[in-house]
Amino acid sequence: MKQVYMDHSATTPVDPQVVDAMLPYFTEKFGNSSSFHSFGREAAKALSAARHKIADCIGAKSNEIIFTSGGTESDNLAILGTVGQYAGVSHIITSVIEHPAVLNTCAYLERIGHEVTYIPVDADGIIDIEALVSSIKENTVLISVMHANNEIGSIQPIREIADIANSKGIVFHTDAVQSLGKIPVNVNDLGVDLLSISSHKIHGPKGAGMLYIKDGTSISPIVFGGGHERGLRPGTENISGIVGLATAVDLAMQRYDVDSRHLLDLRNSLIEKTMATIDGVRLNGHSTKRLPNNVNLSFRSVEGESLLMMLDLKGIAVSTGSACSSKSLKASHVLASIGLAADFIHGSLRISLGRGNSMEDIDYLVSSLQEIVSRLREISAL
Ligand SMILES: Cc1ncc(COP(=O)(O)O)c(C=O)c1O
Repeated sequence: MKQVYMDHSATTPVDPQVVDAMLPYFTEKFGNSSSFHSFGREAAKALSAARHKIADCIGAKSNEIIFTSGGTESDNLAILGTVGQYAGVSHIITSVIEHPAVLNTCAYLERIGHEVTYIPVDADGIIDIEALVSSIKENTVLISVMHANNEIGSIQPIREIADIANSKGIVFHTDAVQSLGKIPVNVNDLGVDLLSISSHKIHGPKGAGMLYIKDGTSISPIVFGGGHERGLRPGTENISGIVGLATAVDLAMQRYDVDSRHLLDLRNSLIEKTMATIDGVRLNGHSTKRLPNNVNLSFRSVEGESLLMMLDLKGIAVSTGSACSSKSLKASHVLASIGLAADFIHGSLRISLGRGNSMEDIDYLVSSLQEIVSRLREISAL
């Protein structure tokens, strides 16, 4: 059966060039980067090269890169590590549509006595800047707002928020897990103090990620051990994963122009063809301020889960919400936050495109949707 993978916001296949770069670090180059002998020095050299490569790609200095196990850990380290710098009750500002890696970290901080303000978004999923400004308090230590949303792809005005945070001396973190490789990610242009990246969303291996920590920004570790990663993330480094991450970031930058144009063509064609041929469809998220690979559609009077399963029978892999919450069948907090009516929330589908998709895939998806949506509506009690 034809197989079409269109769930790249959940994860991506590892690029063969990334696999090739990683392989020697499982076998002949297996050293511990803290060891003094030649095996250790070889691992330390790879670690340093990876750090420089990633720093170059995002406009950072190599000493500003801390390797982690992925986006979730980077978000936790950014938030808990910043709050850990202050005595007493801290106040954190974030948005209602953040990934659970941010929202659940904030919920934990509230449970232990800190304060969190969750800023609303408009119907397109863009943050309310006025509400953000007026929520700043004396004890606000951190603002954390994602660069681009993982469900509806909306892109936030990061530079504007950074300027506000910087003018008030508040640390600013952004989760760039979904934006890296899709839209420009340069820490100087964005003006951020902390930025999270995950490897498996950009054709790198799972279990590797990075937190950018701007020089002069102090954070505390959240795990304790040896002196690895400047003591901020102790534990023997995952050299093969880090080499894979650096290769994936480098490839994403090299392919940026070609990939983003290709994704944009596919995305726009998918939206146009679906809207033109199926009734009762709405596009969730901003029409232009959105990731070039994200399409989030709601089909009236259709259960998203039934749609997902029937597409799966045709070999098409998409998602009904973010990967982490899609198994729970809980209504998406992101779609609820943009004020979507319940029947549209339950009939939603996230299609996230990747560099391997083609126009033929788009046409196969659109014709499958036409057939399945009309079949489901015939039998629908909604
Ligand atoms: C915006 C965002 N942040 C964080 C994460 C978590 O990244 P990881 O899977 O590397 O822990 C994800 C993954 O879905 C994400 O989409």
